[in-house]
Amino acid sequence: PPYFSCTLKGDFSQMKRTHLFIAGLYLLASCRAEEGLNFPTYDGKDRVVSLTEKNFKQVLKKYDDKVAQKQFQLKEIVLELVAQVLEHKDIGFVMVDAKKEAKLAKKLGFDEEGSLYVLKGDRTIEFDGEFAADVLVEFLLDLIEDPVEIINSKLEVQAFERIEDQIKLIGFFKSEESEYYKAFEEAAEHFQPYIKFFATFDKGVAKKLSLKMNEVDFYEPFMDEPIAIPDKPYTEEELVEFVKEHQRPTLRRLRPEDMFETWEDDLNGIHIVAFAERSDPDGYEFLEILKQVARDNTDNPDLSIVWIDPDDFPLLVAYWEKTFKIDLFKPQIGVVNVTDADSVWMEIPDDDDLPTAEELEDWIEDVLSGKINTEDDDNEEGDDGDDDEDDDD
Ligand SMILES: *[C@@H]1O[C@H](CO)[C@@H](O)[C@H](O)[C@H]1NC(C)=O
Repeated sequence: PPYFSCTLKGDFSQMKRTHLFIAGLYLLASCRAEEGLNFPTYDGKDRVVSLTEKNFKQVLKKYDDKVAQKQFQLKEIVLELVAQVLEHKDIGFVMVDAKKEAKLAKKLGFDEEGSLYVLKGDRTIEFDGEFAADVLVEFLLDLIEDPVEIINSKLEVQAFERIEDQIKLIGFFKSEESEYYKAFEEAAEHFQPYIKFFATFDKGVAKKLSLKMNEVDFYEPFMDEPIAIPDKPYTEEELVEFVKEHQRPTLRRLRPEDMFETWEDDLNGIHIVAFAERSDPDGYEFLEILKQVARDNTDNPDLSIVWIDPDDFPLLVAYWEKTFKIDLFKPQIGVVNVTDADSVWMEIPDDDDLPTAEELEDWIEDVLSGKINTEDDDNEEGDDGDDDEDDDD
């Protein structure tokens, strides 16, 4: 069969069916079917230099604990692979010993041991995402691009309009030399690569987007209409302040590149979390309902729903199912206490009969008022998990 085009070595006749299955998968992974789809594998060359070469080897020794040592080595290998893939991009990779180089670390704004920081110009940007080679590479590639993307044509407007799951800003300026464009560009650098800034110098594009000269529109994720930032023209500081104030949307997607930052931005110790797989019909429908709820409640500062597409986090799915005791093959919405990961989930008995926007809003209201919370069931006896009694007052 075409799957096994590599030569099999060794005696496989003693293998059981399950063994063969695994061997088959393994062989597939190590066979090179065709050129053009070769995932990089780490070539073993050291590219990540330590600021203090001598100390670096001792860093390893500091971890007596085998697990910690392995975790450190794994991170180092991820970094090495990233450095290898981006070798031609002129990005330097450096390890800093937090203890021995405490002064330097402080000067550079590195305040958390074990974290990854990027220095760009005079900015220090903390990477607060999933520590995986592909996520990191994408983050760095976004970071070395220009902070503002220019929209020149109707087709590009369409591409711009299709971005709906993240914050975006767009401004209309006379030219690249305009002082207001320069302020916009400087503001963009504060948020790169997490928030996308676009600009146009084209009257037709501006008209299509109803932008006036020197005006900047702010688009909250999943909302149809943007907000025009008031009091144009703006200084860099005014733009930065506005974005910071509006940075927490009513519905936000958890993204691998800033997942920890999002999770730390809780609302009084909790998150309302919705799981919905976009590529699944039920998940898609549920997401549409969530968007409706978000649009209806966009003015409520106390509401920010974290939407998680399990497809974005294959390594976490099993952990979430176990921790939250839910089935992630179905849409779910619940409230999670970020201190102890205690959670309560809305009952959705049938995924062919998803809650309506109104039902969802009632449930959310009960969460926000504290009527539904993660604490009430904590003192109940027995943890057999099947106590479904209604506790109506
Ligand atoms: C979250 O859990 C902690 C620890 O169990 C508890 O002290 C805290 O009150 C809970 N917070 C909320 C908002 O329920």
